[in-house]
Amino acid sequence: MELKNKISEEFNKRFNKPGSVYASAGRINLIGEHTDYNGGFVFPGAIDKVIMAKIAPNDTDKVRVYSVDLDDYAEFGLNEADAPKASWARYIFGVCREVIKRGGIVKGFDTVFAGNVPLGAGLSSSAALESCFAFAINDLFNDNSIDKFELAKIGQSTEHNYCGVNCGIMDQFASIMGKADKLMRLDCRSMEFEYFPFAPEDYELILIDSRVKHELADSPYNKRRASCERVAKRLGLDTLRDATMPLLNSIRTDITAEDYFRAKFVIEEKERVLAVCDALNAGDYETVGRMMYETHRGLSDDYEVSCEELDFLNDIARECGVTGSRIMGGGFGGCTINLVKKGLSDKFIETAKTRFNERYGHEPQVYPVVICDGAHIVD
Ligand code: GLA
Repeated sequence: MELKNKISEEFNKRFNKPGSVYASAGRINLIGEHTDYNGGFVFPGAIDKVIMAKIAPNDTDKVRVYSVDLDDYAEFGLNEADAPKASWARYIFGVCREVIKRGGIVKGFDTVFAGNVPLGAGLSSSAALESCFAFAINDLFNDNSIDKFELAKIGQSTEHNYCGVNCGIMDQFASIMGKADKLMRLDCRSMEFEYFPFAPEDYELILIDSRVKHELADSPYNKRRASCERVAKRLGLDTLRDATMPLLNSIRTDITAEDYFRAKFVIEEKERVLAVCDALNAGDYETVGRMMYETHRGLSDDYEVSCEELDFLNDIARECGVTGSRIMGGGFGGCTINLVKKGLSDKFIETAKTRFNERYGHEPQVYPVVICDGAHIVD
């Protein structure tokens, strides 16, 4: 059933009153991984996979929320002491709290939500959830007076303060600011950004989901960030944004080999995003693809956030002559993003499915990428 009908039906059953429908999107990232919390550049876009919620104020100081996909219900107040136990509900609670902390208004509301962003696939289902509610709360209770960047930061702070993930700003930014057929190059230090039209004639983007689930909270994600911050501090810098390989090499013997390779990846990745921008401007997709393969190698060998299944999918892409392929998102499972010449995709998908199934006993999930608008009012 269509998402909107699904949540509306359930909302009517439970709350039986009119409400507004909001949605926000998952994201892809062409290149620039683990650069956001290092003050570097990222290149994301919102996709046609969303979290959608129907919401109506309820004249109380309680939030009553039902998740269709989890078939679970939660109820919580809006004070710090009212945090719900269920981890999924903490995303919504966190958004409410972060709005309140910034002086915004949140009143009690009833809501039903559902989504089609695959969970744990590296497509930012959690950012889509946070952005959907941040956007809705801004519209319902604050006359849209909170600016969109702040909405993204509200989602990010929710991750930090209520969900245990010290993430960067990329996912929430993309989920809120995304536009159809456009990727965005965001400078995560100045927060300046630019929309890049992305609708190549001869190539398409395909996601191959290993279905290896990742969980970023308590995961090595926070440790990666800590490594980067240690090296930046050692170099006397705020972030690794201004670090260079000569600088890093000058302290190589003072830091652990692990920290060295984490920082090396970040420094090289920063350069790759800029090279991809130039290549896109010149219509040079072969260079874009080559950079994607280099990113994969760095994420796998130096940053160590890949896994056997994703390396296997990357090898298959290379063997099939795919232009570019790499692990996407935080890592430790999830998807590869593949830049594929039109005409080659059927063969590539078929080969990836068969070979992956032979080795791991299940087929990967395949999603064509459609770049869409981010957070919006549906109804
Ligand atoms: C996760 C985080 C983002 C970003 C990516 C890696 O998706 O939420 O902030 O750090 O990993 O690029």
